[in-house]
Amino acid sequence: MAVLLTGGAGFIGSHTAVALMETWKQRGKKEQLVIVDNLYNAQAEVIDRITAITGTRPAFVQADVADRDAMETLFNTYEITAVIHFAGYKAVGESVSKPVAYYRNNLDTTLTLLETMARHGCKQLIFSSSATVYSVGDKVPFTEETKELGCTNPYGWTKYMIEQILRDTAAAHPDMSVVLLRYFNPIGAHPSGLIGERPNGIPNNLMPYITQVAAGIRPKLSVFGNDYPTPDGTGVRDYIHVVDLAKGHVAALDYAEGHTGCEVFNLGTGVGYSVLDIVHAFEQANGIHIPYEIAPRRPGDIASCYAATDKAKKLLGWQAEYNLADMCRDSWNWQKSISE
Ligand code: UFG
Repeated sequence: MAVLLTGGAGFIGSHTAVALMETWKQRGKKEQLVIVDNLYNAQAEVIDRITAITGTRPAFVQADVADRDAMETLFNTYEITAVIHFAGYKAVGESVSKPVAYYRNNLDTTLTLLETMARHGCKQLIFSSSATVYSVGDKVPFTEETKELGCTNPYGWTKYMIEQILRDTAAAHPDMSVVLLRYFNPIGAHPSGLIGERPNGIPNNLMPYITQVAAGIRPKLSVFGNDYPTPDGTGVRDYIHVVDLAKGHVAALDYAEGHTGCEVFNLGTGVGYSVLDIVHAFEQANGIHIPYEIAPRRPGDIASCYAATDKAKKLLGWQAEYNLADMCRDSWNWQKSISE
């Protein structure tokens, strides 16, 4: 029996690989972990690092999830009973300039995966969705019942569309179990400092930008807007430690094993922090000053985005445990390990 992680060498995938293998070890379960990744936005050495943390080497296949033949061979080789689907392009800004590439890649990989799963009788699927599906709404905290009114960029729309494809697929196949996980803002890194996020070029996201300022790679942070209707005027988000997020996938897999149908869960902490809260928490946790300037609002941003967490607590028995200081410490620990 094997669980397949598409995009399993990436930021969230690699942490989930570790969380799953550690859970199986604790439970004495003889499950196999298989990672498929085309290494478009990840490095092969991540597999060695997962092995170093867990003491067990996952099976790794370098292939594109949209490659039908490669996926067929993969499903013929391993007895895959469940899939966690992370693979996809994820840069919001790039999706605006390359929409066709984003729709092609994110939808093709999902459709090829679904066809392959159907041919092999694989019925459990966990999908990496995003709080971005709420981004046109304005009532925080966002509950899973909040009506998704649309997205502000093509990346977000791919998540929105894939959610719909998966709902339809689950409805047509009542023996399937599909779990849609809407991530809020994952930051931090594994406390070992062995795996974390490696943004390409100038980081789009707040925490990798802050850690690069701390490392002296960039002179200062631009804070995008200080006139939002929030306590200090800067944007509020729900930052979640990637190790907590990874554990949410373990809980989702347990849930999928015991249920059929399609269910959606927010994975966040339920607490919103502003950009300046993050800057100050980082400075305090690591004793490093972060110079910043106030810049214009970034197009597409909303004032506040944080999760209602009751459903995940109740049905998955999961909630985030790390606090903001832990997230700041582990983000910096990781940045130091890659900038040495
Ligand atoms: N911000 C800055 N300066 C920066 C970068 C970000 O002030 O250099 C601010 C943003 O304006 C925002 C906050 O920091 O208020 C967080 O921005 P991020 O880019 O880190 O995260 P977003 O909330 O914009 O987007 C993230 C993911 C998306 C996902 C979305 C879901 O990057 O993939 O959360 O809500 F879709």
